[in-house]
Amino acid sequence: MDVGVSRDRQGGEDPGATGRPEGLGGLARRSLRRLTGGDPEPSATVSRLPRFSVAATEEIADVRPLSGRVHPERARLALADALAASQPVTSRDRFAGRSDVLADLIAAIEQQRAHVVLYGERGIGKTSLAHVFAETAREARYLVLYGSCGVEASFDDMFRAFAAQIPLLYHADVSPVADEREHQRSFAELVGAGPLDPRELAELFARIVGTRVILILDEYDRVRDPAFRRDVAELIKNLSDRAARVQLVLTGVASNLDELVGFTPSIRRNIVGLGVGPMAEEDMATILERAEAATGLVFAPEARALVVRMAAGSPYLVRLIGSRAALRALDDRRPEVGTTDVVAGTEAVLGEWSAGLPARVQRTLARADVRAEMPLLIAAAKASGTPEGWFAAEDLVGLLRSGDARDLGDARAVAARLDALARDADLFEVQAEDAPEAAGGGHERRYRFRTQGLAQLLTLSAALARGTS
Ligand SMILES: Nc1ncnc2c1ncn2[C@@H]1O[C@H](COP(=O)(O)OP(=O)(O)O)[C@@H](O)[C@H]1O
Ligand SMILES: [Mg+2]
Repeated sequence: MDVGVSRDRQGGEDPGATGRPEGLGGLARRSLRRLTGGDPEPSATVSRLPRFSVAATEEIADVRPLSGRVHPERARLALADALAASQPVTSRDRFAGRSDVLADLIAAIEQQRAHVVLYGERGIGKTSLAHVFAETAREARYLVLYGSCGVEASFDDMFRAFAAQIPLLYHADVSPVADEREHQRSFAELVGAGPLDPRELAELFARIVGTRVILILDEYDRVRDPAFRRDVAELIKNLSDRAARVQLVLTGVASNLDELVGFTPSIRRNIVGLGVGPMAEEDMATILERAEAATGLVFAPEARALVVRMAAGSPYLVRLIGSRAALRALDDRRPEVGTTDVVAGTEAVLGEWSAGLPARVQRTLARADVRAEMPLLIAAAKASGTPEGWFAAEDLVGLLRSGDARDLGDARAVAARLDALARDADLFEVQAEDAPEAAGGGHERRYRFRTQGLAQLLTLSAALARGTS
C-alpha cells in the first residue's frame, strides 16, 4: 500500500520545489539564494550523493506536507523534530497538557513566594515543564535563569554563573538610570574571590530590587556532593529569612525526594513540593496529533490508543514508541501507522531497555523463582507509578485481584512475598513501618524498586502482553 506517498524523491530534485506550500519566508530565502548565486544546478553525478533534505535556515515547522501526501525524507525529519524523545519541550506551543501543575507552580512562586521542588519520574516532563514555566515567567518580567546540574556540580560554579547573569542595575545601590557602562556589569563583581558562602550570597541577593529572580536548578538529584545540598538548603533558609526577591525551583527524580526536600522543618515551610504525575491520556494523544500535523502521517485510531496505553502516562514513552512506530510506516512508505507498527516499536524499546539494565539485574530477572513472581512484580511496578515511587503491600492487593494473577491473599501475604524478593533478589529497598523520617509520616512498611527504569520496563512489557493478547 502506498497511497499518497510521493515516490519522487530520487534524482536531484530542488528541495524547494516539492512537498510544501512555500510561505513568504521561503520565497524570500529562495530569491536571496538566487541573488547571491546559490542553488547551482546539480550535475548528474553529484545528485546521486547524499544531500541534506532541508536547509539549516529553514524551520522544520515550515516543512508542511502537501495535502495528504507524505514526503518520506521530510516526514522523517519532521518526525525527528516532533517526536524527539531525548529533547525537552522548550516552548509553549509544543507543550501538551500539564496546565494544573503549571498553575500550581505559578501560584507557589507568585502567591506563596515559596521555593519549589518539582519531582517525578525520569521522562515524566519536569525539564519541559521548567522550560515552559520559565517562558511564562519571563513574559511576566521575571528574570529566569536556568542551570542543569551535573554529577560534578559545585555550589560555587553554579551560583557564580547565576550571579554573572544578574545585571548590576538591579542592585539597590545602583541607579536604574545609570550610564551605559553600568549595563554591562553583573552581580558576579560583588561576589568575593573566595569560596561562595550561602549566607553572604543570600545577603547579596537580598539587595536585588526592580525585578524578581527565579533560579532553576534542573536535575538537582544528580549532584553527588552533599555540601551542594547543604549550601542550597542554607541559601533557601537565608533568602526566606530576608524575604529576598530570589526564588529557587529545583527539579529531581522521585526517588530522591526525601533528600530533595528533606531539609529541616524550618526550611521545609518555605518549600512547596510539586509532584509531576502521569500525563492525562488526551494530552498524550495531543503529542501524537501534533506529530501527525508535522509529518503528514496518520496514526490509525487503534494505533494511537495503543501508544497511549503503552506509554501509561509518560510523554517520553509516547514519543519513543510513537516515533519508532512511525518510522516503520515511513520505511514501508505507508502513510498510516498501524497497531503492528506500534507493537514492533514497543518491542524494540523493550529490547533496548532490557539490554541496558545492569547485568546483575538481568540475571536476577531470568531466575525461575523471580519469574514465578512476575505478576507480583508487575503489580508492584504499577503501584510504584507515584512521583516518589514508594508503594505498600496493601496497594498491590487490589491490583492483583483485578488481574488474572493467581490468588494472592491479603496484604500480609503479599508483604511476605515482597520481603522475600527484597531479601533474595535484592529488587526492592524497604522502608520499615515506623521510620520517623518517612515522608508523610506513614507507618506502613514501604517498598521501592532499586533499579532505575525497571518498574517502567515491567509495566511496559505487561502492557505489551495485554495489548497483543
Ligand atoms: N507537556 C509535554 N508535551 C509534549 N511533550 C512532552 C511534555 N513533557 C515532556 N515531553 C517530552 O517527554 C520527554 C521527557 O521530558 P523531560 O521534560 O525531559 O522529562 P524529565 O525532565 O522529567 O526527565 C521529552 O522528549 C519531552 O519532549
Ligand atoms: Mg529532566
